[in-house]
Amino acid sequence: MAKKITNKITWVGKTDWELKKFHGDEFTTISGSSYNSYLIRDEKVALIDTAWLPYDKEFVNKLKEEIDLNKIDYVIALHGEVDHSGALVELMREMPESTPIYCTANGVKSIKGQYHKDWNFQVVKTGDTLSLGETTLTFIEAPMLHWPDTMFAYLSGEEVLFSSDGFGEHLASEHLYADQVEQDRLYNEALKYYANILAPFSMMATKKINEILAMNLPISMICPSHGLIWRKNPEQIVEKYLEWAGNYQENQITIIYDTMWNDTRKMAEAIAKGIQNKDKEVTIKLMNTAKDDKTDVLTEVFKSKMILVGSPTVNNGYLHSIAGILEMIKGMKLKNKKAVAFGSFGWSGEAVKQITEYLKASGFEVVNDGIRCMWTPDEENEQALIKFGEELV
Ligand code: FEO
Repeated sequence: MAKKITNKITWVGKTDWELKKFHGDEFTTISGSSYNSYLIRDEKVALIDTAWLPYDKEFVNKLKEEIDLNKIDYVIALHGEVDHSGALVELMREMPESTPIYCTANGVKSIKGQYHKDWNFQVVKTGDTLSLGETTLTFIEAPMLHWPDTMFAYLSGEEVLFSSDGFGEHLASEHLYADQVEQDRLYNEALKYYANILAPFSMMATKKINEILAMNLPISMICPSHGLIWRKNPEQIVEKYLEWAGNYQENQITIIYDTMWNDTRKMAEAIAKGIQNKDKEVTIKLMNTAKDDKTDVLTEVFKSKMILVGSPTVNNGYLHSIAGILEMIKGMKLKNKKAVAFGSFGWSGEAVKQITEYLKASGFEVVNDGIRCMWTPDEENEQALIKFGEELV
C-alpha cells in the first residue's frame, strides 16, 4: 500500500515481513525488512528504486494503482543490487522503452550484468542534477555504501536525502518513520546492519558523511532503501554512523568458541570468570559459533574491544564453525581490537597457533600466544584459565 510522505513524495515500496535470510544464507533478518521505493510527483515524475525480485509483479501492480506508469518520466536506480533493482525488468516491460534510468557508471555495469537489458541509461556523477520542476534531485556518488555503484540523491525543495543502503536497517514495520518504533530495537537492527554489511567500508562511510556534511544541505528527512525513515532529528543516525565508522568499540569482551566434548566450552567459562574477577563493569558475552546466529556473533564482535576465539584441535586444524566465522570476521576489516585464542586438545594441538595467526592476519592486535588445555580441564587447569582471564584485563 502506497503511503504519502509529503505532498510530493509517496512511499511505494514493499514491506517484507517474511524475510529471515539475506545475501543467501549469510545474514539473518529476524525482524524482516522493507525495500523502500519512492515516487516523487512534481512537474516531472521520478521513481527511486524498486523492490526485490520475488515481489516484482506485486510491486508493479501496486504502483499502477498509484500512478499511470506512462506518467513516470524518470527511473532513478540508486543501487543495482537485486533487492532494489529486482522489479526493474517487470517495470520496464510496462513502461516506454525510452524511459531514462539514472544511475552511476558502475550502476550501468551492475544492472546490465544482472538483467542483460540495454535500457536508456543516463549516467550521473556527484553534483549532477535533475530538475523535476519545483524540486531538483542532486546525485552524490557513494561507492561501496554498499556496492561500487551506489549513489545517494538529495531532493532540494523537500530537503530529503535518499540514502540507499546507508542509514537503513532490516526491520519490517507497519510504520514508516523511525520515531514510531521501539528505539532499542531500531538501533540494534541499524547497528547489526552496519556491522554486517557496511563495516568493511567504514573509511569510505566516514569520508562520504563528512563530504555531505560539508555541503551544508538542509536535511529534514533521510529516506533509506531499507527500514524506517528518519524525520525527527535525522542527524541522530548520521552521528551514530560516524561513531560506528570510527573504529567503534564498547566496554565489551566477546568469547566465541566451538566445542566437541565441552572442554573448550569449560575453558571459555573459566576465562570469563577470570575477566569478571578483575573487572565487574565489562560486558562479557560467550557465544558458541555452532549454535549462535552468525549475524549476531559478528555484531557482538563489532561492539567488542577484545575477542577470544576458541576451538579444540581436530584433524590438525580447528572446527568448521570457527573457520567460517573467522573468515567473516576477517572480511569486516576491523581496526583497534585486541584478540586472543584458546582451545583444548588431546594430542597434536595446532588450533590455537593457527587461530592466532588468522587473527593477526585479520588486523587484530593479538595480546599473547593464547592458552591450550590438554584433555578436560582439571582444577589446576581451571585456576590457570581464571588467571589467564584476570591477566587479560
Ligand atoms: Fe539493500 Fe546493497 O542492497
